[in-house]
Amino acid sequence: MERVDQIIRNELFQSNLALNCAAEADRRFCRHNIEHLLAVCRLAWILCLEEKIDLPKELVYAAGLLHDIGKHRQYKEGIPHELASAEIAEKILTDCEFTIEEREAILSAIRSHREEDVASRNTLNGILYRADKASRNCYACPAEADCNWKGEKKNFHVY
Ligand SMILES: [Fe+2]
Ligand SMILES: [Fe+2]
Repeated sequence: MERVDQIIRNELFQSNLALNCAAEADRRFCRHNIEHLLAVCRLAWILCLEEKIDLPKELVYAAGLLHDIGKHRQYKEGIPHELASAEIAEKILTDCEFTIEEREAILSAIRSHREEDVASRNTLNGILYRADKASRNCYACPAEADCNWKGEKKNFHVY
């Protein structure tokens, strides 16, 4: 996955990931670090294989790696992070030679990754939504009782 490797080496990706980590250094709740981004990539790909959803692996991994890349801007500027992430992702995807059609599919999935109405769709949007929720180990989280995620968004299953 040459273009996915380009994403993780991309300067804008690395600088925004570092800003996420700095902004969340003392956070009790879920973080938006490389472990989370990679967990989402892998769970999304497992869902594609299990549910026989025919999506290119590079698109699935690009969406997973970039879906929360602008989280730090939500903390600092109050911008919903799906929009901040899509804005940053567009530049990174262009740098990494994704076509305009590929960019549109990935950015659409990033923008909708917090919208419950895409959850059941067999599209990149639905896959990203489900993988993101499945990646959270709410059953083992000491801050679960204080977390503002609504009950149905929390994950109490092992994937
Ligand atoms: Fe998110
Ligand atoms: Fe996420």
